[in-house]
Amino acid sequence: MLQQELKKRKLPNVFQMPNGKRIQTKEEWENIARPHWKDVLLTEEYGKVPPVLMPKITEETNAVDFAGKATWETVLFTFENHSKTHTVPTQLIYPKGEKSIPFFIYLNFRPDIPDRYLPVEELIDNGFGIFSVCYNDVTKDNGDFTDGLAGLFQVGKRTGDDTGKIIYWSYMASRMMDYLQTREEVNKTAIGISGHSRLGKTALVTAALDERFAFVCSNNSGCSGAALSRGRCEGGESLRVIQESFPFWFCPNYCKYADKADELPFDQHCLLSLVAPRMAYIGGAIEDIWADNDNQFLNCVASSPVWNLYGKAGIITENKLPVCGDIYTEGEVGFHLRKGKHFHSRTDWLVYIDAIKKKL
Ligand code: GCU
Repeated sequence: MLQQELKKRKLPNVFQMPNGKRIQTKEEWENIARPHWKDVLLTEEYGKVPPVLMPKITEETNAVDFAGKATWETVLFTFENHSKTHTVPTQLIYPKGEKSIPFFIYLNFRPDIPDRYLPVEELIDNGFGIFSVCYNDVTKDNGDFTDGLAGLFQVGKRTGDDTGKIIYWSYMASRMMDYLQTREEVNKTAIGISGHSRLGKTALVTAALDERFAFVCSNNSGCSGAALSRGRCEGGESLRVIQESFPFWFCPNYCKYADKADELPFDQHCLLSLVAPRMAYIGGAIEDIWADNDNQFLNCVASSPVWNLYGKAGIITENKLPVCGDIYTEGEVGFHLRKGKHFHSRTDWLVYIDAIKKKL
């Protein structure tokens, strides 16, 4: 059943290289296929990644400590390039006095702590640290490429594979990862990333590009995130709509594929596959038709053969499309479909936390 569904979509084969080479081992995947798909995705969809800048760091400790359970610091990142500067505030909250703490880097819509998408106390009580940033503080969610971090790199009007906003937000997450490497409280092998919707797309891109991330929880990310573009469901977001509404999330090259999903030289399984052999959990909500739950789930199935190269299962599921209430998180690739609408809910967090705690 699932293989038939995938067959209908005629996805590009992740193991087939354009020069005819067929990938058969994990070494070939790492040396040939990984760089190939990274390059294709950055050139045709998201835009290239700016060079790494070393920010100046300023740390402040806040008085609020969540009933004495947590330490909360504000960390300011000041970037400088071409004699322009931009400062991004981030929030670091972790179980007080603990060592070897697993961490979530969280990309949020708002700077709030806690936030309706970010149940801080619940995460702390489960032993996780949180390092969060508000995406608009990195660079605004609009077509202004003179704003924030984008303004330090973009010169003139964007063309071709010039960086889109998703990559700028993701770039910041990687700099937050750099910073966590310097903190002795952190378990460096257990740092993951999460985000919802456009920031779920960004979380997935970040884990795909930056192998230091041990896990990704991409919530309701849909079109150009976890959802395959080919064989979109009725009512699901199309490439044309996303490219017309949010052209600035992507590089200008991506517009070539409006109404031409079948001609993409990749699909979103090429992105999810880049996370192998690490953990990737995808969350859907039954009323979130726009994000195309079947195609988010089928991506997990389509990407799993790359985990198999590493002797890992990928998604462990029944041979059927998901229904409301299904939770498949036994493998390193997971999918759940909860009731309700588009939202990063506590229910989602509890599924992710449970899956990750079992594996760590
Ligand atoms: C819009 C957009 C989606 C996106 C969502 C969000 O609905 O079409 O692609 O995921 O916004 O970020 O909330």
